[in-house]
Amino acid sequence: MNILVIGSGGREHALCWKLAESASCTKLYCAPGNAGIGSAAEIVNIGVDKLDELADFAIANKIDLTVVGPEAPLCDGITDVFEKRGLKIFGPDKIAAQLEGSKSFAKEFMLKYGIPTAKAADFTDFENAKKYIENEFANGEKAIVIKADGLAAGKGVLVAESCEDAVNFTKECFDGAFGESGAKVLIEECLFGEEASIFGLTDGNTIVALASSQDHKRIFDDDKGLNTGGMGAYSPAPVVDEKAWDFIHKNILDRFLAGVKAEKFNFKGVIFVGIMVTDKGPKVLEFNVRFGDPEAQVVMRRLDSDLADILAKCVDGKLAEAEIKWKKEAALSVVIAAGGYPGSYRKGDVISGLQDAADAGAVVFHAGTKFDADGNIVSNGGRVLGVSALGESIPEAIANAYKGVEKISFADAFYRKDIGKKALKHL
Ligand code: AMP
Ligand code: GLY
Repeated sequence: MNILVIGSGGREHALCWKLAESASCTKLYCAPGNAGIGSAAEIVNIGVDKLDELADFAIANKIDLTVVGPEAPLCDGITDVFEKRGLKIFGPDKIAAQLEGSKSFAKEFMLKYGIPTAKAADFTDFENAKKYIENEFANGEKAIVIKADGLAAGKGVLVAESCEDAVNFTKECFDGAFGESGAKVLIEECLFGEEASIFGLTDGNTIVALASSQDHKRIFDDDKGLNTGGMGAYSPAPVVDEKAWDFIHKNILDRFLAGVKAEKFNFKGVIFVGIMVTDKGPKVLEFNVRFGDPEAQVVMRRLDSDLADILAKCVDGKLAEAEIKWKKEAALSVVIAAGGYPGSYRKGDVISGLQDAADAGAVVFHAGTKFDADGNIVSNGGRVLGVSALGESIPEAIANAYKGVEKISFADAFYRKDIGKKALKHL
């Protein structure tokens, strides 16, 4: 099979790393990739927003399967464009991608199909939103969650602990801080508990859960500071115990699939369910229509089957026939970011120690990296690298990953020191 992966982050590096070792993958390309992905795939210099150019490339290079990493091309309709030209592609079409692209669309779907989630209301004008917020706090709510409706690269959500913060953020949304995405605002009940990430592969007929994982969204240790795309992850996530899994299968994944069938959605891809495990059981925080990053890094490290075969069967509607096995070991990935992220940060700093980290047993997934004119690998994004390792247990995976992290340096590099710590209390 000739395979094209679309995207340029740590998630796409992890997908390419796994696809490259798949017996059923003969030729692997990645567009536009980064400095690390080149060791697993041939780099194609086409941006993720060039849907027609990507399809032209796929036809010219006899691509049998295209795997889409990020949400933006899915929400832009890359699957519609590819399928219209007879190309096979992993990811939902434009209509189904609204499950990530519009939080109110997703909420309506959850309510319609009985999927447990936070109570919410949506607003298109500030005054009514403000009245609702004031009323919620007057009724004793301790916190409330404000969400810009559309895609906002993880920045359009505030967990507000005061009425004033909630009202101010709502005003910012309506004033255009997130562009069109903030023209509608969702106001949600705040859920309390521990978060986990669940990936459900679906071909529209079957849904199969992959190994559980947990992200670390905040920038600083002990979950302090601003939200980011994710500062580290591990798998499995012990907060998802047997009882939680049972609930997730019955009340979330099976109902999701029932909804996909009833709505006749064209969804052959992965639904990434952000979950809060509350004292009343797991509830859905959000749907995403692609793999999470860095969660994909640790899930791919643990996958013990042929990823290319699994994704191809999924796209062909034969997911039930796919063999999906897991390594017993735990996996953990620590993100090394550029100082300043998630605010403004430097680019172009030379990265050293990548080979030493590999020699120490880590697999280093590249996110924001590129080659400079002299052939050095330099930083080129907020999240720069994901340093991953396996271990017999989570504590061992933590120790192994940080051994790799300590070998790597670049100016102003920053990473969290507590990735995996939350798992320890369950062990
Ligand atoms: P979202 O983009 O909807 O996943 O929101 C980003 C992050 O905000 C989540 O990962 C949670 O940490 C937090 N969050 C979102 N919705 C809620 C909620 N209803 N209650 C508590 N925290 C939330
Ligand atoms: N790590 C969370 C996400 O990919 O959205």
